[in-house]
Amino acid sequence: MAVTVLLLFLLAVSAASADKDAFIGVNIGTDLSDMPSPTQVVALLKAQNIRHIRLYDADRAMLLALANTGIQVTISVPNDQLLGIGQSNATAANWVARNVAAHVPTTNITAIAVGSEVLTVLPNAGPVLVSALKFIHSALVAANLDDQIKVSTPHSSSIILDSFPPSQAFFNRSWDPVMVPLLKFLQSTGSYLMLNVYPYYDYMQSNGVIPLDYALFRPLPPNKEAVDANTLLHYTNVFDAIVDAAYFAMSDLNFTNIPLVVLESGWPSKGDSSESDATIDNANTYNSNLIRHVLNNTGTPKHPGIAVSTYIYELYNEDLRPGSVSEKNWGLFNANGVPVYTLHLTGAGTVLANDTTNQTFCVAKDGADKKMLQAALDWACGPGKVDCSALLQGQPCYEPDNVISHSTYAFNAYYQQMAKAPGTCDFKGVATITTTDPSHGSCIFPGSHGRNGTITNGTSLAPSSNTTTSGCSPKYVYGGDLVTSSVIFSVALMTAVFL
Ligand SMILES: *[C@@H]1O[C@H](CO)[C@@H](O)[C@H](O)[C@H]1NC(C)=O
Ligand SMILES: *[C@@H]1O[C@H](CO)[C@@H](O)[C@H](O)[C@H]1NC(C)=O
Ligand SMILES: *[C@@H]1O[C@H](CO)[C@@H](O)[C@H](O)[C@H]1NC(C)=O
Ligand SMILES: *[C@@H]1O[C@H](CO)[C@@H](O)[C@H](O)[C@H]1NC(C)=O
Ligand SMILES: *[C@@H]1O[C@H](CO)[C@@H](O)[C@H](O)[C@H]1NC(C)=O
Ligand SMILES: *[C@@H]1O[C@H](CO)[C@@H](O)[C@H](O)[C@H]1NC(C)=O
Ligand SMILES: *[C@@H]1O[C@H](CO)[C@@H](O)[C@H](O)[C@H]1NC(C)=O
Ligand SMILES: *[C@@H]1O[C@H](CO)[C@@H](O)[C@H](O)[C@H]1NC(C)=O
Ligand SMILES: *[C@@H]1O[C@H](CO)[C@@H](O)[C@H](O)[C@H]1NC(C)=O
Ligand SMILES: *[C@@H]1O[C@H](CO)[C@@H](O)[C@H](O)[C@H]1NC(C)=O
Repeated sequence: MAVTVLLLFLLAVSAASADKDAFIGVNIGTDLSDMPSPTQVVALLKAQNIRHIRLYDADRAMLLALANTGIQVTISVPNDQLLGIGQSNATAANWVARNVAAHVPTTNITAIAVGSEVLTVLPNAGPVLVSALKFIHSALVAANLDDQIKVSTPHSSSIILDSFPPSQAFFNRSWDPVMVPLLKFLQSTGSYLMLNVYPYYDYMQSNGVIPLDYALFRPLPPNKEAVDANTLLHYTNVFDAIVDAAYFAMSDLNFTNIPLVVLESGWPSKGDSSESDATIDNANTYNSNLIRHVLNNTGTPKHPGIAVSTYIYELYNEDLRPGSVSEKNWGLFNANGVPVYTLHLTGAGTVLANDTTNQTFCVAKDGADKKMLQAALDWACGPGKVDCSALLQGQPCYEPDNVISHSTYAFNAYYQQMAKAPGTCDFKGVATITTTDPSHGSCIFPGSHGRNGTITNGTSLAPSSNTTTSGCSPKYVYGGDLVTSSVIFSVALMTAVFL
């Protein structure tokens, strides 16, 4: 009996693993006031070695620009065309002739996403969704393209209910009349479930229940790791938990061998005052960790090693998108092709090939208490043995002459001098790590590769007699409101307190 169960399990897993290695793709939204031309978009994709993309429509100019590039393209039937296609075989056939058959094989179309989050965004079209997929598919069969082009429809993960623990997850039962025939269709055509996975929203809506680190794939202390009591599987990140919830929801309907592709996932780099976790650093951390996680073929706790290919949302910041500030700031690049931030992808493979640096810096936290910054600055330039000479009047980093700017320089110099060791960017909580190079003008920070590509050396570890004696001198005082001699006399205490 045990052997049978194990065999069935292995069969299910190997069926789901029929797909080779996982890949990273990128979604391309076009709601930009200065949308680059298709040629410029393709040039950016090539420069960044992006080999898989998803378009939100089947734009002819884009598909022509993608010809002969080898880039694999998922095109979409927009929601506003869904009713027509779902109600008429002829309309579907016409759509395929115009948007697919006219472009393959020179443009490598590999999938068609029919609608977007239809069950949650356009529930009225739910009843024709499966017909739309079937009509598109039969047109592909007629054109002999059904082997190379898969048909599916992306869902919001919110159709999965009770998603933690994952083993208890199920699809909203109201949609069983759609989901059951849909999964049958995906199974019989060798297609896959498309799912949009946004730990950002789960985190935002959890009222503090989901720790930020858990959403960002950062290591958790063992007592904070989420354990599924039914399966005893350990979940170290929200992404895996959602993907496994989808696998369990499919097996709840008795479908155990349908692979899954995450069609959208990402994190916004900017938000309004109510979206304080939409930051450059969090976006960079999420996307960098996501890319590494996917390309490592890590799989999920339920299906270790099974590819979960994922498309990042999204290529460009879309300034014309309605809604909150974060809505406009999910992009990896600005319209001019300049990265919004530099991903930490060293060793992750070859996608987004330019972004392989590993630069991080230590800076003063926004809104940190000025007295605490001053005390930490004095410690860094004194007992911390940082060379603070660049902060002296007349030196490159003197301006702007304020405690935030100067402590940022000193914190970073200390952090680089300690080889970015864990815990060396804290300073009693007033410092934080960033990926944005704080260098400005001729003030080049230690650890910066500089604007013109010169690598500045980190500050020397050797204490210089000058900095040791000058560390707590009035040179580093601002507004004269602090630095008492107690700082000097409590060096031992400060060492313990700041590190
Ligand atoms: C990426 O690298 C290529 C080749 O080195 C270069 O031409 C291109 O401008 C770079 N792209 C970005 C966005 O830095
Ligand atoms: C198109 O993509 C498929 C993978 O789905 C690949 O096997 C094929 O070689 C690609 N064709 C071209 C012309 O790049
Ligand atoms: C739809 O059209 C295809 C040919 O494009 C045909 O094979 C199929 O039977 C038609 N399906 C229906 C339901 O009419
Ligand atoms: C399930 O789907 C139905 C139909 O869209 C919706 O009215 C209901 O709110 C959903 N249930 C939950 C718990 O989300
Ligand atoms: C799944 O299979 C089990 C066992 O064969 C059966 O009892 C159950 O009704 C099936 N569920 C669905 C949704 O088909
Ligand atoms: C990569 O996969 C191995 C096992 O295949 C796993 O031990 C390791 O933690 C993974 N690394 C990342 C960054 O996911
Ligand atoms: C880049 O950072 C990662 C994670 O912090 C680290 O494992 C890797 O060794 C670093 N690579 C280089 C070249 O510094
Ligand atoms: C780099 O830029 C700095 C300041 O902008 C300049 O002083 C220096 O000469 C430049 N170095 C090179 C190699 O261009
Ligand atoms: C950086 O350090 C290396 C070795 O310590 C030294 O040879 C080199 O001249 C230094 N470069 C600069 C720009 O200070
Ligand atoms: C100490 O400072 C003086 C004057 O500012 C300078 O001439 C001397 O070279 C410095 N010594 C060291 C070791 O940096």
